[in-house]
Amino acid sequence: MLLGRCDGLCYEVRPTMPKKAAKNKPQPTRSEWAAVRGSQIHGRGMFAKKTIPKGTRVIEYTGERITKAEGWRRELARQERAGRGADGCIYIFELNTKVDIDGSVRWNTARYINHSCEPNCESQVVRGRVWIVAIREIGPGDELSYDYYYDYEHYHEHPCRCGAKSCAGYIVKAPLRWRVRHAARKGKKKGARQAP
Ligand SMILES: C[S@@+](CC[C@H](N)C(=O)[O-])C[C@H]1O[C@@H](n2cnc3c(N)ncnc32)[C@H](O)[C@@H]1O
Ligand SMILES: [Zn+2]
Repeated sequence: MLLGRCDGLCYEVRPTMPKKAAKNKPQPTRSEWAAVRGSQIHGRGMFAKKTIPKGTRVIEYTGERITKAEGWRRELARQERAGRGADGCIYIFELNTKVDIDGSVRWNTARYINHSCEPNCESQVVRGRVWIVAIREIGPGDELSYDYYYDYEHYHEHPCRCGAKSCAGYIVKAPLRWRVRHAARKGKKKGARQAP
């Protein structure tokens, strides 16, 4: 996993950048299906502009291709920033056993898609490219989401605000959410026993 700044400004082309360099910067990816706006879940999100049929490739998750070692280096830097109180948004996508994608670049519009415990999209790797694909029909105005597939380790560092009925309270991959719920139940029982 990697990091990036949540405000999405860290890779903005600065006015001082030479014109030629600015011209060579990739343009932000666009989707005919969805657009970015403020989200109730977190910061900004992506929302359906019209009905999106199930199976549609909505947008590509793109970014800088980096080695695992570099991915870890950036992740550690993110954790350090988060520890200092900065918003430690994660943008690293684990493509395979050798390569990660750092999606924190400004041209990766898909970086705005938030996590949900009841997602309407999923990420699919097709010939080395990552696509965000609708897993059911999505209505106009609905926020797009997918399962970030975070591990159980350090789950308490990633509270989830997806608002879904079945929300586990933390961003953890679906197959491991039972462990989060189990830990919460155990915690409650322990608390009850300690009560006077
Ligand atoms: C790839 S960014 C998503 C875009 C982000 N909303 C923004 O405005 O930049 C990933 C970060 O968004 C936040 N996030 C995404 N889904 C979330 C959720 N369900 N609950 C709480 N925070 C979430 C977390 O801070 C996560 O590290
Ligand atoms: Zn949730």
